[in-house]
This record gives sequence, C-alpha cells and structure tokens, in this order.
Amino acid sequence: MKLKYNGPLTGEVSVPGDKSITHRAIMLASLSKGKTVISKPLLGEDCVSTINIFRKLGVQISTEEDNVIVDSPGYEQFREPAEVLYTGNSGTTTRLLCGLLAGLPFKTVLDGDASIGQRPMGRVIEPLREMGVNIKGRDNQFTPIIINDGGISKVQGINYMMPVKSAQVKSAILLAGLYAEDEVRITEQDISRNHTELMFKNSNIDIEVNDRTILLKSNGIHAIKMKDIEIPGDISSAAFFIVAALIIPGSKITLQDVGTNVTRSGILEVVKMMGGNIQVIDKVQQTEPVSDIVVSYTHNLTGITIEGSLIPKLIDEIPVIALLLAHAQGKSEIRDAEELKVKETNRIDTVVSELNALGYKIQPTTDGMVVYGKVKDERTRDTFDSYGDHRIGMMLAVAALLETVEIEINQFEAINISYPSFMEHINQLKGEL
Ligand code: S3P
Repeated sequence: MKLKYNGPLTGEVSVPGDKSITHRAIMLASLSKGKTVISKPLLGEDCVSTINIFRKLGVQISTEEDNVIVDSPGYEQFREPAEVLYTGNSGTTTRLLCGLLAGLPFKTVLDGDASIGQRPMGRVIEPLREMGVNIKGRDNQFTPIIINDGGISKVQGINYMMPVKSAQVKSAILLAGLYAEDEVRITEQDISRNHTELMFKNSNIDIEVNDRTILLKSNGIHAIKMKDIEIPGDISSAAFFIVAALIIPGSKITLQDVGTNVTRSGILEVVKMMGGNIQVIDKVQQTEPVSDIVVSYTHNLTGITIEGSLIPKLIDEIPVIALLLAHAQGKSEIRDAEELKVKETNRIDTVVSELNALGYKIQPTTDGMVVYGKVKDERTRDTFDSYGDHRIGMMLAVAALLETVEIEINQFEAINISYPSFMEHINQLKGEL
C-alpha cells in the first residue's frame, strides 16, 4: 500500500462493530440453544476465525445484511471436530476457547498462525489446570493446545488473584467456570475490559461484580440464553480517526455509535488530559454504553504520562496514541505497559522502529516508551512495515496522512484482522467517496 495526503479529514463515519464484543457474542450465542441475532458485528478475520470454529462444532451461523444469525443446537449437542480448530491471528479466540471448550465431553485441539505461536498461553493454561481442566500446550506455554486428551475435565471452581492484567485470561476462567461445580471468584489488580461479565448478565447467568472482584455462581451453563444484541462501534478502531482528526490541521469529524464502556475508553481520558478538542455525546445505553464522538484538530496538545490503571483501558490504542503524543508539546511517557511486548507483535519494538524511521523521536523503555513531542526529522526510509500487526498498519496509515511524499506500507493487508473497511473510511473522510 502506497499512501500520502496533505489535507483535512471531515464528515461522519460509523466504525465497524467491536471486535471483543463480537467474539463474545458469537461464543455465548453458540452455547445457547436456539436463534440469536447479532446486529452490526465485526466481520474481520479474527471474528471469522471464531465463527468458523463454532461451525465445526455444529452451530449454524449465517450472515444476512448487517446481521450474523447464530442458530445453535445448544452446547450439549456440539460434536467433536475431526480437525484442529484454527484460531488464525486471534488471541481472543485462542484464549477464550481454552475455557469454553474445557467443559465439553470431547477432545479439541487449538492452533493459530506464527504470531499466535509465540504468544504466552501459560497464563490461561495454569489457572485452567487449577480448575481441573485437562489442558496441555507446547511446552505448556504455547499453541498448539490440546484439551480433554485422554480424559474429560471435571471443572471445579477457583479463587483466583489475577497475576496479569488480561481480560482474555479473566474471560477464559469465567467461560470454564460456566461448567464448574462450585463458584468462581476472580480478583483483578486493575480492572480490564468487562464485556464478558456484561454479556453473562445479558445471557441469564448469575454473576456479581464488586469493584475488582467477580463472583460467578456454579453451573451457570444450564441457565445460558443469550439475548439478541447490537454490537457498538469499536473504540479501538475509532482511535485511529480520533488521532488523525486531532493531528491533521483543519479536520473535524463525527464518529457515530462508538462503544464507550469505561473499561475501554482510556483514549478519551487521554485526549481530555492533553487538551484535545473532543466531545462525547452519550446515547441510550443498551448492554454496553454507546456515544457519538466529535473530534477536531487541536494545535496545542500537551504531553502527558500514561500509566497504572489507565493502561488496560487503552492497551490496544497505544500504537496510535504514541503517534498522538509525538504531536504534543513536550515529553510524554507510557509506563506499566509491558503487555505491549506480547501483542500481535512486540508493540514497543514495532512502534518505536516505524515511528522513528518516519522522523519522530521515541525511546523504548522496559515497560513502555518516552515520546519527545513536536520534534520530527526527515524520514530515514520510504518503506515501512506492519509486521503483520493490524494496529501497526493502521498507525502507519494515519501517520502517512501527514506526509507529502508517498510512503509504502508492507503487509498492509493485516488491517483486515480488525478493520476491513479502513481505507474506504479514510477515503470517505478525505471527501473522495
Ligand atoms: C481482548 C483483551 C486484550 C486486548 C485484545 C482483546 C479481549 O488482551 O489487547 O485485543 O477481547 O478480551 P489482554 O486481555 O490479553 O490484555
């Protein structure tokens, strides 16, 4: 992909459905007997991986206009798949399914692409084993993962203090906990995205949340009945346009129906702290809060430090937030974000290498990065790389909108993981459609 631009972004866009919520909706609808309509889902490659796996388990899943219709025989009628269940590039599919598949009375094998093969899976394998799940991984740390091989799990409850800040780990435990004979209690250090908890409530499952502690009553699986749901726009996708509008002179855009769950909306806090022109207009709340976001170019953004409990609320937005900080006055810092190292790529390395080559000044640290604002030198190369990481590809595309001479972005197709219509939306905001 070759890209440059030298003009403002204006107009309105509805970003695609939230990736995390779409995965969970497909999973809970598949466990529930009968038909569930999921409106405005994301049909990016990661969610398609989840859909294909449930098809292999015997669930009928069809797409009709802007809906996915899940017609399930119920989890008790799932059939043993004859093949490996392929999770592609999707960490959410891989980790959440470790929990969901645990209570089924047959063997399953999960495997993904080369990036998934390097991502830590011990973080789900260990607590699941503590719950009595028969689960093994390569070196017990990586995919392929095999569940219920040579013996069906008898899933028990757990009282678990989360050692990592990860909604995927929390959700894997909660999904396994649906089959547990006693209750599951999880305490988080910092609150991570709570879509699983909200969707359990929406699916007739007895779950209580008290600050950082979650209590799931035993045998929740028997009650499960997912209700129809409309998926809000993905704030992680909206983030690219929020940043683009803030840094491109003359821009003013409206992003419609974006999910603004507080466990996800750290970027909005960041923009406010930096003095960005942003307005969040709340709409009628359904299962998840939804808002329209109006954002415009801001000349005098100020640098800030982003750390602590804010990190899990914006972990996926950090690549494009780094670009935003590079356009603010003064020195900024991102701390407590070592999780960046185990995302689709090591995002400390990939952000620093690509933005520095564009002429920005960013120093990596052990748990984040230091960004020196408003110091942009000449770029040192014309060819950049997503390294197969969708969010690095889109961060580079936003950066390219400020370049007057074209840059080339290799492996740009990675954006299809979470945002297949990204370029169409850019062109719409450039006024070219
Ligand atoms: C996700 C949780 C986050 C996030 C990922 C999606 C989820 O990962 O980075 O893109 O859907 O639960 P961790 O929970 O591993 O931090």
